[in-house]
Amino acid sequence: MLNMRTNSGVLACLTLPLIASSQSITPSISYNGNANTPQMGWDTYNAYGLDYNETIVRTNAQRLTNLGFRDLGYRVVIFDDAMTERQRAENGSLVANAEKFPSGLATLVDELHSDGLLFGVYSSAGKYTCGKYPGSLGYEKTDADWWSSLGADYLKYDNCYNEGLSGTPKLSQDRYAVMSNALNTSNSNFTYSLCNWGDDKPWEWASTIANSARISGDIYDSFLVPSTSCPCGPDEYYCELPGYGCSVLNILGKASYITSKNQPGYWNDLDMLEVGNGGMTTAEYRTHMTMWAAIKSPLIMGNKLDQLSVADYQILTNPAILALSQDPVGSAAQRRVVKQVEPKDEYGFGEVQIWSGQLYGGDYVVIFLNAANDTQDVEVPLWQVFGLITATQAEEDWATYDLWAENVTISAGVASMVLNGTMDLSSSSTNGTLQATTTPPR
Ligand SMILES: *[C@@H]1O[C@H](CO)[C@@H](O)[C@H](O)[C@H]1NC(C)=O
Ligand SMILES: *[C@@H]1O[C@H](CO)[C@@H](O)[C@H](O)[C@H]1NC(C)=O
Ligand SMILES: *[C@@H]1O[C@H](CO)[C@@H](O)[C@H](O)[C@H]1NC(C)=O
Ligand SMILES: *[C@@H]1O[C@H](CO)[C@@H](O)[C@H](O)[C@H]1NC(C)=O
Ligand SMILES: *[C@@H]1O[C@H](CO)[C@@H](O)[C@H](O)[C@H]1NC(C)=O
Ligand SMILES: *[C@@H]1O[C@H](CO)[C@@H](O)[C@H](O)[C@H]1NC(C)=O
Ligand SMILES: *[C@@H]1O[C@H](CO)[C@@H](O)[C@H](O)[C@H]1NC(C)=O
Ligand SMILES: *[C@@H]1O[C@H](CO)[C@@H](O)[C@H](O)[C@H]1NC(C)=O
Repeated sequence: MLNMRTNSGVLACLTLPLIASSQSITPSISYNGNANTPQMGWDTYNAYGLDYNETIVRTNAQRLTNLGFRDLGYRVVIFDDAMTERQRAENGSLVANAEKFPSGLATLVDELHSDGLLFGVYSSAGKYTCGKYPGSLGYEKTDADWWSSLGADYLKYDNCYNEGLSGTPKLSQDRYAVMSNALNTSNSNFTYSLCNWGDDKPWEWASTIANSARISGDIYDSFLVPSTSCPCGPDEYYCELPGYGCSVLNILGKASYITSKNQPGYWNDLDMLEVGNGGMTTAEYRTHMTMWAAIKSPLIMGNKLDQLSVADYQILTNPAILALSQDPVGSAAQRRVVKQVEPKDEYGFGEVQIWSGQLYGGDYVVIFLNAANDTQDVEVPLWQVFGLITATQAEEDWATYDLWAENVTISAGVASMVLNGTMDLSSSSTNGTLQATTTPPR
């Protein structure tokens, strides 16, 4: 039996060397050699919507570098929608938005690349993007070549205005495959990220043409508050009306049914991280971050990097949680137990979930997620926690590590010096400070 007390919203997360032999790495199924671990980066959309420009991109890109995010793996900067003019040029080419990017996109991309960052673009497999800019349906080759000429490394590809070309997996796959081929025959090496909201179950077909696919409606900055704009509940993993106001707990429920589809080279995308946007408590943001890492969702921040709090910075840079995300085995944690408990909160939630998964070197991650509004005592048999356990394994001595222990994350003192610019982590003299001041348990 495992006995555990968890506080409301707080999450215990530990690794146990359970099996002496080392876990073998799952073979990559990457169709193009990319995304053998989940993608990491930053995207304009959650914090700025369509209202961003080169000043905003520069500010955030600089913070990725100076705050040490780049060196932790957050490298791609995604210009999410509204990067172009509203009309194509006469020859059909997309045209960079001159008002937003007065220095020119090429200059901006050069700056990103010389800082060791990657350039991500966005479009829709439809007539228009979701923001009503020109979409790429019918223009796949033209657009892929244009992005490639600008030096793009990454495409996030949406599903708005798709002209009814969805409703069966074949219709969706065929539509998204056209862009996959166009990217492949361009001069660049793109990571290809589908954003079709789980429409037509991309987890069944996207791995042969893409590196990741969204599985739900858009996330919003709430841990559990249900919203009418996200009509399907957490138990409806296949949803005809995905919507856009989906809470962390809602998306987690949907993801729990399809965790086994993740494998190096293809990842179910739970949507961007909301950490830093102010709508959740620190415990809730920690839980959001931990679960996205454990289930191997891409970790794409969607915040304002010049307005991060110390707590949010500690969450986003936790080296143990990032190691969990980027673990070479590439196996997503699975939900083992959902236990309804009292009291229910005002939204009717009151449950404890237990997740576990295998990591490199024979470690396991075990997560107790208390989504009840009260401290809970949990007692569960070991075989339930791990899915399967032998008598010999149960008798072994285990070392356990709390991945949110105070000495694992960067200290608040160093964090505040980095955030207020007193310490710049991008210079070679301070490089490694983040790694050196934190102590991943193993
Ligand atoms: C693209 O880059 C990845 C590394 O991210 C590499 O493994 C792969 O071979 C590259 N693909 C091509 C076609 O160059
Ligand atoms: C970008 O937007 C910010 C905030 O609205 C504004 O202060 C800045 O001048 C803009 N920069 C450009 C190049 O448009
Ligand atoms: C298409 O037209 C635009 C604007 O006139 C021009 O900048 C671009 O080079 C042209 N693209 C091609 C592929 O000819
Ligand atoms: C394009 O596809 C071919 C055949 O699958 C593959 O060998 C090649 O590496 C791909 N190139 C890129 C850039 O993904
Ligand atoms: C949690 O419980 C406290 C009091 O025990 C109450 O004020 C609060 O509204 C509850 N939260 C939710 C989400 O129900
Ligand atoms: C970190 O703190 C835990 C207790 O919270 C302790 O067991 C562990 O030894 C500490 N690790 C280091 C490297 O100081
Ligand atoms: C930055 O933060 C550190 C640590 O909290 C503090 O000692 C220092 O005075 C701050 N510097 C500025 C310029 O705000
Ligand atoms: C800092 O360290 C990282 C990883 O060790 C390395 O990729 C990067 O180039 C280094 N940056 C500088 C400025 O030394």
